[in-house]
Amino acid sequence: MTNKYRAGDSQVDKLIVLGLGLLGASICAAAKKLGLANEIIGISRRQSTIEIAHAKEIIDKSSDSLATLAGNFGEDDLLVLAVPTLAMKSVLSECQEHVPPSVTITDVASVKTKIIEFAEQVYGDIPKNFVPGHPIAGSEKSGINAANPDLFKNHKVVLTPKEMTSQGHINKVSEIWTRLGADVTFMNADDHDRIFAATSHLPHYLAYSLVDTLSRESNANEIFDHAAGGFKDFTRIAGSDPIMWHDIALTNSQFILEIMDRYIADITKLRDAIEKKDSRYLVDTFNRSRLFKTKKTYRKDRSIDFISKPCGELRGEITVPGDKSVSHRSIIFGSLAQGTSEITGFLEGEDSLATLNAFREMGVLIEGPEDGRLIIHGVGLHGLTEPARELDLGNSGTSMRLMTGLLSAQEFKSRLVGDESLSSRPMRRVTVPLLEMGANIRTTADGTPPVELIGGRLLKPIKYTLPIASAQLKSSLILAAMYADGESVIIEPVTTRDHTERMMTAFGCNISVDDSSRSIKIQGGYQHIGTRIDIPGDISSAAFFMVAAAICPGSEINLLNIGINPTRIGVINILKEMGADIKITNRQDELCEPTANIHVRYSSLKGIEIPENQVSLAIDEFPIIFVAAACATGDTILRGAEELKVKESDRIESMAKGLKILGIETDVFDDGIKIIGGKIGSGTVNSNHDHRIAMAFSVAGLRSSGAITIQNCKNIATSFPNFVDIARSVGMKIDLESN
Ligand code: S3P
Repeated sequence: MTNKYRAGDSQVDKLIVLGLGLLGASICAAAKKLGLANEIIGISRRQSTIEIAHAKEIIDKSSDSLATLAGNFGEDDLLVLAVPTLAMKSVLSECQEHVPPSVTITDVASVKTKIIEFAEQVYGDIPKNFVPGHPIAGSEKSGINAANPDLFKNHKVVLTPKEMTSQGHINKVSEIWTRLGADVTFMNADDHDRIFAATSHLPHYLAYSLVDTLSRESNANEIFDHAAGGFKDFTRIAGSDPIMWHDIALTNSQFILEIMDRYIADITKLRDAIEKKDSRYLVDTFNRSRLFKTKKTYRKDRSIDFISKPCGELRGEITVPGDKSVSHRSIIFGSLAQGTSEITGFLEGEDSLATLNAFREMGVLIEGPEDGRLIIHGVGLHGLTEPARELDLGNSGTSMRLMTGLLSAQEFKSRLVGDESLSSRPMRRVTVPLLEMGANIRTTADGTPPVELIGGRLLKPIKYTLPIASAQLKSSLILAAMYADGESVIIEPVTTRDHTERMMTAFGCNISVDDSSRSIKIQGGYQHIGTRIDIPGDISSAAFFMVAAAICPGSEINLLNIGINPTRIGVINILKEMGADIKITNRQDELCEPTANIHVRYSSLKGIEIPENQVSLAIDEFPIIFVAAACATGDTILRGAEELKVKESDRIESMAKGLKILGIETDVFDDGIKIIGGKIGSGTVNSNHDHRIAMAFSVAGLRSSGAITIQNCKNIATSFPNFVDIARSVGMKIDLESN
């Protein structure tokens, strides 16, 4: 809808409200309280209602029909139709007869398509001066005695004008709602009716129906005597106006029936699951709903931009969400274990939740997550079951690659899909050695997802030297090797993160690692047992705040309980070499993943040649390291980092483009980049839907000359859903704009 409300260009002389029920009378009361019209006229066919309206002093004048006002309307008048939906057709006929086209007309019905249809039937076409509307401010109370001048404050009002509705009339209706304290939004009538059928109409009918069922039970009195919080919350709306809900049922029946049918199908499944004691179905259903209700996720159909502005010094003590790599692995090894595993610190981000959901789809009962805590009821090495549908792994390359290894060794078939970014990421690195092990796998001709795992093959052990430095590849092969017929040996020429090896050791798997030759031996067929895994804060998330404190004068940030696995601390090593003031305290080395607090203070940074042996140890942190480099004096040079081109975006290109827009010069190489430190300017950059690019440029805003707008930031929910909250808690200024 292109209609936009323009404030301040309309005024109301007479406000005429036809129908003095809860909504109509509340509009009068609010308009009276705020002095929004020169005169307020209430119309009701009931004399007693008019008397109450006068006694409450919410109207100046009254009448029992529109006809009596004929000839007295002026172009600054606003007529609000607040009668039950089925009465609207005859009321619109009266409007057509008595109200001139200069007068603005709106209504408050909860159903919009039918009202527009009525207007078309009466007028021949919807009149230009009729702006259909719906204040979302109902209450189970009804009638004039419930009138409340504050009823609309901070509530939404949806307007559903048609293309031919005049902008002047739209403005007038918008303005009066805004002045009544409401938040005006626009929709088309069909969308409105479909949405409200689901979120308002269906719940009302469920509440009415449940109360009715229970009230006819033989022990109804006892039932209602013991009704407590949940029941009262759920059935409060069964006290609403019966005529209104009767009319809504008949006038929005198509959308209500559609959603009611889907609900009935689901409640029937739930009933069957209870009868069959299907714990998996029950826990999965409840978990899914709970996650949906409690999680802060960004809307799928909107894009989010961040606007990051310079600010004063940053201070604070913060924890960041759990390590993403370790979170994925905790689900995988917990699921394949015999017995239960308890996990704490699990990252409730979209990527690790994609892995969690995939294992649920394969029959694993997983309780939680609740504040990062999970209980996984392991099914054993051979206990996974064929998923009923394809497994959607969203944006998560780690899920896709690790699960390709694991699922190629299963008896059953499966299909792995992902979002646009994941669908273009290379998979041959894992499929080539897996095919060598005897797996039956299909990808697209380009070697990208979807990945189809045919299964049903006993894999041969492999001796394989990794051609690229990739922990995902290493882990994928380790997972396949756990099912192979013998001992596999995987050799990595360059050290990459060793979370898989550490976790397997914690679970008591049959794995041995020789650090000097960088070789890993895995004996196939060995069953491990459940254990407890405490996941530390993700150093990749902490890195954004390490750099934020390092580049923002006067800043001091302490990051608590961060994983400092030696294969992940490249970012600390690199920043220290650039002159950052970083102190590690409270080291806990005895854990499966070592942890510490990381204390960072501002200091001036200098450009360096990044040692190539740090590249794989800081592979995910380069976007934010590039921001540090842009703030440093001199040049920073990165080489040997071609892998950055096949991450969630081509990170060298994404960063170089954005830095250029912000006035920072770069030189892009085949395997890296040179960044010339300078002054960061303001501008609009694109994250290319890459979470780490989005967060890196948000941090760049700290040192820019003005605001930096970063487009397409929704994917921060994959790894760091509460990034903005934490950033604000230390003093960063980030605004969100939803498009
Ligand atoms: C990861 C390994 C790295 C890293 C990714 C997580 C893992 O990918 O970039 O974010 O958990 O194994 P590569 O194996 O492609 O280098």
